[in-house]
Amino acid sequence: MSTYNEEKRKVTTASLRKMKMNGQKIACLTSYDYSMASLVDAAGMDLILVGDSAANVMMGYETTVPITLDEMITYAKGVVRGVKRALVIVDLPFGYYQASPDMALASAVRIMKETGAEGVKMEGGSEIRESIERILTAGIPVCGHLGLTPQSINKFGTYNVRAKEEAEAQKLLDDARLLDEMGCFAIVLEKIPAALAARVASEVSCPVIGIGAGGGVDGQILVAQDMLGMNQGFSPRFLRRYGDLATVITDAVSHYVDDVKTSDFPNEKEQY
Ligand code: KIV
Repeated sequence: MSTYNEEKRKVTTASLRKMKMNGQKIACLTSYDYSMASLVDAAGMDLILVGDSAANVMMGYETTVPITLDEMITYAKGVVRGVKRALVIVDLPFGYYQASPDMALASAVRIMKETGAEGVKMEGGSEIRESIERILTAGIPVCGHLGLTPQSINKFGTYNVRAKEEAEAQKLLDDARLLDEMGCFAIVLEKIPAALAARVASEVSCPVIGIGAGGGVDGQILVAQDMLGMNQGFSPRFLRRYGDLATVITDAVSHYVDDVKTSDFPNEKEQY
């Protein structure tokens, strides 16, 4: 009898596809550093995204536009070192794939070589078709991202729900079919009507991962700091909070401040 534990096997793009085929939901979360990624992985996450939401969460920028490829690579290196089981993918940041397929491939290759991650995510459909094709041809798994695409915030002007109108919904469907046919291993759908997201998931063969896209898709993704309650100022309808780390951290840190100020810390047992 084998002692090999199927559950502990490394998640791959192929196993995510199998999960979709078997009707098993896919759990995904962002991480940007070694410590958090180790915990997230040990808790049983299937896919960890080093999202360019690091621009907001880790660097305090208003949008994801300013983050650089070097910064994404630094975050991803830490995450990859902390993960044993989950599939780790990295966002190609704004400005590092839109200009040409050559630029896109060079950026994706840097991510793969320098971080050890297993794929990249890119925002957009037919507009970036050639860049996606070039990266896929090099053997690098690509996850698409449609619907609300935060890198285009300066074009759209708001973070409101996307694809509510027929024309935009049709374009999203066409783009999802295109990404699937080209060979993307998954597609993230962000902030679109649940019925449209469910339709996409039923029509494409690759797994569809939703964020604010309802329950009819193949998996869900959230930003770790949002679902852990570290970011109290952000409360979209789709966000379920699984913790209140802002309170936990503030209480613990102010307790420490008090203990230092009152000379309670360190005590005799806490010194050499
Ligand atoms: O950057 C990010 O965190 C993302 C997720 C919200 C899907 O793209």
